[in-house]
Amino acid sequence: MAQGRPSRDKRILRSDPEPPFPERVSMSIAYQPENPEILHKISLLFRDYFDHAEKKRRWNIREDVPWGQCNRSLNPAIADVMETFCAVEMYLPDYLAKLIPQVRANRGRAWMLATWGYEESKHSMAFGDWLLRSGMRSDEQMADLEKTVFSHEWDLPWDNARAMVCYTMVQELATWLHYYNLREQLAAEGGDPALHRVLTLVAIDERTHYDFFRRLVALYLEDDREGTLEQLRRVVNGFAMPAVHLLADSRKRTQEVKDLRVFDYDMYYYQVFEPIVKALALRKTDLRRHSPREVMLPTAARV
Ligand SMILES: [Fe+2]
Ligand SMILES: [Fe+2]
Repeated sequence: MAQGRPSRDKRILRSDPEPPFPERVSMSIAYQPENPEILHKISLLFRDYFDHAEKKRRWNIREDVPWGQCNRSLNPAIADVMETFCAVEMYLPDYLAKLIPQVRANRGRAWMLATWGYEESKHSMAFGDWLLRSGMRSDEQMADLEKTVFSHEWDLPWDNARAMVCYTMVQELATWLHYYNLREQLAAEGGDPALHRVLTLVAIDERTHYDFFRRLVALYLEDDREGTLEQLRRVVNGFAMPAVHLLADSRKRTQEVKDLRVFDYDMYYYQVFEPIVKALALRKTDLRRHSPREVMLPTAARV
């Protein structure tokens, strides 16, 4: 855990809730054919992922959660953070609508997004069910949340599919960490077996997503080290969680997450950034900005 360690360079994680450089975002991502060898390797990677998920990781929202054991007197701060998580997961239509066009000619990545989308769809449903069944939110409040979410459209934080696979890898590990840390807080707040189970099931999905996207980034590093490092460098130096900035009270929501010790700068550095550097057999210097403006420069659309 990050507690007790010195605070690191906070530029590694954006502190404001604005999206990184939205002005460069475009739906018309230039299509560049990818190396057939790498396309084949990605297809195989996806099949392994899919076969394993079908056999070992499918779960059922109704049947696999002890819904009768929701704790109705849990600290309301937990419900506030769960509402934020639920809202971020609810942007799924935008995530899929924007990500799939970038990779429509890459079967492994496109089919992965279809599978990923199915798995992600369960997350907001399970979080929403907990908010309702615990009595922490009413049907009206959930309807308002849904309305808020769909009144703002999420857009790609990065302008090319190579950067987006790097972003998704980082985002999945960071998301896993949010859910893992929140689950660890539950006992101190009186416990909630239903929420504990929901967070466990969802965290397993997020960790497995991270693992897939990490393998994908490793393949791209093998195929085009410099091009992939260039995108990864931009992503890790400008990382922000998706969609939080679109929500009402986004700063308050970010603060609530920090106050519960669920996610902060040091956690990002020690438990997301450093493990990724290690897992990809990189050095931190590989990801250091070459110039302070590097992440601000538009890059050519790259697959
Ligand atoms: Fe999720
Ligand atoms: Fe995920």
